[in-house]
Amino acid sequence: MAVGIFDSGLGGLTIWDAVQARLPDQEFVYLADSAHAPYGVRDADDIYDLTVAATQRLFDAGCDLVVLACNTASAAALRRMQEGWVPSDKRVLGVFVPLIEALTERQWGDNSPPREVGVKHVALFATPATVSSRAFQRELAFRAIGVDVEGQACGGVVDAIEDGDMILAEALVRSHVDALKRKMPDPDAAILGCTHYPLMKQTFQDALGADVSVFSQADLVADSLADYLERHPDKKGSGEAAFLTTGDPARVSDRATQFLRRKITFTAA
Ligand code: DGL
Repeated sequence: MAVGIFDSGLGGLTIWDAVQARLPDQEFVYLADSAHAPYGVRDADDIYDLTVAATQRLFDAGCDLVVLACNTASAAALRRMQEGWVPSDKRVLGVFVPLIEALTERQWGDNSPPREVGVKHVALFATPATVSSRAFQRELAFRAIGVDVEGQACGGVVDAIEDGDMILAEALVRSHVDALKRKMPDPDAAILGCTHYPLMKQTFQDALGADVSVFSQADLVADSLADYLERHPDKKGSGEAAFLTTGDPARVSDRATQFLRRKITFTAA
């Protein structure tokens, strides 16, 4: 029994780490589309085609439920997939909504009208494709009023992380935080809207200052997935746990082991 977890590369491992700790009896098939990462600089049609192909690969591996542990795919492809592609016996979920529900202090699935919430000025750090999709603002507008969102497209950070160049990734994060602060000097909250960024959470927090609440997705998605599987036990799937990559398995395994500080072995997708 396995649930699929998809990311363009290694960032989704931050979600995998949290969900397997939260659901120790559930198996997961993780698919990294490393051959095509990063997605954040691609156009929406390209991201849609790649995400559909990867999701189909996870369905073929016995997953009935696939979590897009990638904000870029969730922002650029999920709605279109749900509206016209996902077969009726399968489900595909994204990582945006649990985060927005936490930010707007809502319970899961609370569909009441939008209302005023505690945060007023929110900084969104994400890939260029996620920022330009405005999917975050759209989902937020369904739930909250009076929240000012300033998006900062963090070019280069995902490549640096995928290459294992954390010194470059830190320098880029600091310069993106400076750029954001020039547009929004005093955010109350910051969203790490890319699953690679929790690997840089301390750098974001240090650059933003201690009084800014930094929201990242992993634990929120884990709680939301646990709740979903309790309500839909038929979606636990039939496949066996695996880590698959469209890239070079040895290289991706080395990087993954370095990030999670435990041995992770990828095989070819
Ligand atoms: N980690 C992904 C995200 O959450 C994708 C980054 C990328 O491939 O550009 O957006």
